Amino acid sequence: MPDLTIAIDGPAGSGKSSVARRVAQMLGYLYLDSGAMYRALALKALHQNIGLEDEPALVELAKQTHIELKPPTTDKERAGAKNCVFLDGLEVTLAIRTEEVAQAASRLATIGAVREVLVAEQQRAGVGGGVVMEGRDIGTVVFPNAELKIFLEAAPEVRAERRWKEHQEKGERIALDEVIVEIRERDLRDRERKVSPLVRAADAVLVDNTAMDIEETARLVVMLAREREKQ
Ligand code: CDP
Ligand code: CDP
Repeated sequence: MPDLTIAIDGPAGSGKSSVARRVAQMLGYLYLDSGAMYRALALKALHQNIGLEDEPALVELAKQTHIELKPPTTDKERAGAKNCVFLDGLEVTLAIRTEEVAQAASRLATIGAVREVLVAEQQRAGVGGGVVMEGRDIGTVVFPNAELKIFLEAAPEVRAERRWKEHQEKGERIALDEVIVEIRERDLRDRERKVSPLVRAADAVLVDNTAMDIEETARLVVMLAREREKQ
């Protein structure tokens, strides 16, 4: 099978990482979670008390930061991780999965010069194909020539409930209403920012998985990938 580049974009909780990881398993491809890179950088900014409005400092931080994504170890996979994430050599796989980090990530993701640094890393990581990368701008900016682009959607209340359930399973006490507000704010910021907003690429296939499970959605994507291979 030729090594395709598969781009999956969509809003928070639409199932991007679960579906992308499963598709990568089914095709023997590499799975890369670009959002984890924004989250890791946000975690570092929070730890260093860098203001999320301090653009020059955040750009400098991005340039000085090394983020690596690796396939998950079994224990991390059991905890729900789809990639193991290393920030300057230290593992932050689980530490980046908080709502605070998600919000901070979406704020620093509005800065064009920060995005340039991370996009260059993502392009290097996915060079040569055989990769499923997911995020917000993969089909539009990171890999505009990807052979298969998917825009994953699900109803907002379903997406929030999915994310809330994950917190429950980890024993984190957070109200569903709080998660709904968090996701709504982040979606709005991601869709309305000037640089690389979350938008469906003209040639992306829209897949609404509100009423589909991960396996069904992944099978649909694999079917589309097999069709593209023949073209
Ligand atoms: O990466 P993204 O934020 O788009 O979503 P995710 O982390 O893959 O999925 C969020 C949660 O929804 C996970 O707990 C998935 O297991 C669940 N999910 C689901 O129940 N049904 C789907 N079709 C997709 C995801
Ligand atoms: O898992 P979830 O869909 O909630 O978020 P994520 O994919 O981990 O991304 C966290 C934040 O990073 C998003 O809200 C975006 O603001 C930003 N992001 C981005 O701007 N571009 C990407 N390619 C991936 C993430």
